[in-house]
Amino acid sequence: MQLYDLFPKDEAPFCTRQIEEFRTDFRGLAVSHNVPLTLSTLLKLSPFIENGVSLFVTTPDNLGYESVALSYLQEQGILFDLDKQKICHGDLFLDCSANLLGLGKPSMVAELTQTGVKKYQEASPTIPVVSIDDSYVKRLEDYFGTGDGFLRAYQEKISHSIRGKRFLIWGYGKVGKGIARSLLAEGAECLVVDLLAKNIEFAEEKGAIGILPSDEAALRQAVAHTDCLITASGVRSVISNHFLAEVIRDSGLILVNMGAEDEFGPKFSQDRVLNRKIAFNFILREPTRMKYLDPVFYAHNRSAQLFLQGKLKEGVAVFPKEIDLEIVKEWETLWKIDTKELFAL
Ligand SMILES: NC(=O)c1ccc[n+]([C@@H]2O[C@H](COP(=O)([O-])OP(=O)(O)OC[C@H]3O[C@@H](n4cnc5c(N)ncnc54)[C@H](O)[C@@H]3O)[C@@H](O)[C@H]2O)c1
Repeated sequence: MQLYDLFPKDEAPFCTRQIEEFRTDFRGLAVSHNVPLTLSTLLKLSPFIENGVSLFVTTPDNLGYESVALSYLQEQGILFDLDKQKICHGDLFLDCSANLLGLGKPSMVAELTQTGVKKYQEASPTIPVVSIDDSYVKRLEDYFGTGDGFLRAYQEKISHSIRGKRFLIWGYGKVGKGIARSLLAEGAECLVVDLLAKNIEFAEEKGAIGILPSDEAALRQAVAHTDCLITASGVRSVISNHFLAEVIRDSGLILVNMGAEDEFGPKFSQDRVLNRKIAFNFILREPTRMKYLDPVFYAHNRSAQLFLQGKLKEGVAVFPKEIDLEIVKEWETLWKIDTKELFAL
């Protein structure tokens, strides 16, 4: 199987460029890689593979992997270590959800997720740990990519018609704002629920209706007159723990989770929430389009190179701002998408 038969190189200009950028830096050090193993992830791995860097590859706990992607790794003679027994032999850890925390003796870590970064912070590391989650680059995925992914999933699996429909979005952070943006652009009405007054104000500025989770009258009204409820708060069981949980469950609302956790919680059966409570865009073959993942993958990989160039210090730190902004600017030019909204999230 040829990787670039599956993905034309121009879909991932950053990862493609990184193949050249990684020509000299790795000097025999090995990379341990824990990111969901999909076909897209192979492009992320290509700068290492094409430069002969030693790789130990795994996939986050409880998430499956795409067998086509695994076959490709096997063809390249790369070790895939589902049980994480051998993954600890790497020197540079590229992690997701802190699944590699406590394994081996890495010289550096780059972590993709907010929950993972918190775990590394609690461990007070004495090596550099780079947080990709706090970067503007990650917002390209969270805001633009997830909005696009939700819309594609909704149109493919529920209905092509969006204009005039009403959506209630629970959690109006980066993901919730991105979904609302995509829906509003298609002529939908959006009501959003968030704990923060500043997000309620932001919603009103964007043409959505903001509701606090404590506003019972507005929420009852919204539940009765909305087509679909989307959770994106990042909080497990946020709906089960709300005083209107039963009203929501017994309503005619289409229920969809977009968070990484089960945000509906124990009061909702798997059948009541589409895609059995798993983030709804993961119902698609390509949950997030490569163009939104490419710069995030690039930044995650680039962290390892920054370490080798002596540019990282001990402890948890955000991905360097200057490089972060450079990548966003370049992405904006490449894809002709205005990114200034990202800075106001
Ligand atoms: N499906 C995907 O492809 C995808 C992609 C990226 C992130 N995610 C997941 O989406 C979730 C949200 O991520 P994010 O980056 O938007 O997080 P975020 O922290 O930017 O936003 C969460 C928002 O929810 C609000 N909130 C928290 N508790 C609430 C409550 N009880 N009621 C109402 N609002 C509440 C917060 O005030 C905040 O505005 C996370 O689980 C993340 O892992 C999914």
